[in-house]
Amino acid sequence: MKIGIIGTGRLGSAIGKIWTEKGHVIMFGSQDPQKAKKLANSISTNANGGTFKEAADFSDVLILAIPWSGAKESIKAAGDLNGKIIVDSTTTAAPHLGGAIIRITPSAAEKIVKWAEGAKVIKTVHTIGVESLDKLLFGTQQASLFICGDDLDAKSKTKQLGLDLGFDVIDAGPLINARLIEPLAMLWIELAYNQGMGTDIAFKLLRRRKSK
Ligand SMILES: NC(=O)c1ccc[n+]([C@@H]2O[C@H](COP(=O)([O-])OP(=O)(O)OC[C@H]3O[C@@H](n4cnc5c(N)ncnc54)[C@H](OP(=O)(O)O)[C@@H]3O)[C@@H](O)[C@H]2O)c1
Repeated sequence: MKIGIIGTGRLGSAIGKIWTEKGHVIMFGSQDPQKAKKLANSISTNANGGTFKEAADFSDVLILAIPWSGAKESIKAAGDLNGKIIVDSTTTAAPHLGGAIIRITPSAAEKIVKWAEGAKVIKTVHTIGVESLDKLLFGTQQASLFICGDDLDAKSKTKQLGLDLGFDVIDAGPLINARLIEPLAMLWIELAYNQGMGTDIAFKLLRRRKSK
């Protein structure tokens, strides 16, 4: 798949690296295109770098790996996103672990639907610490990844990207359910940092039978 990743920080660079290893082609978009090019060169010949718009134009799937505070402006800078699959992986944590900026209604993903006109928005990859991305097995248990979105084809493609990362992917239904899965990231942050469990934790949905 052709994947655009907006943001060259810890999450963007880590998922970009893993996906190139799985055969995907990546275009990083950065506020500083040179930084994106440098990151791409350090990762793989299957990666390139440029502006937010270049990453968006290149992509079949566009990942938002930026702070929530920069999401609206970045979406604007990415240009025409009509018909594009956008994966929102932001967490709406307040600075200094100060709780949630946005309460349960509406979700960040639903706001993105309004800003990125015509795009197919998917919410996922927000409930894991980047430190765990290359070790998603906890003993014999595979970390769960919740995903929701309204466009079934976009969700199916994004689900495959989650499987490529090594997650047990759980379809949590339509995008309105971002209201339910976004707070899980707040719980993850609270447990990891404020309750002293550290970042080596992940969520697992236990099922007696595998349903989907
Ligand atoms: N780290 C994790 O474990 C983790 C896990 C799940 C979800 N997330 C979420 O994923 C997002 C990125 O996290 P991260 O840990 O990768 O953060 P990070 O290391 O701080 O990187 C964020 C990147 O976003 C870009 N950026 C910063 N401010 C921006 C702004 N105002 N407008 C546009 N772009 C901006 C920067 O890239 P350029 O300088 O190249 O533009 C920066 O490198 C956040 O919403 C975070 O909550 C993080």
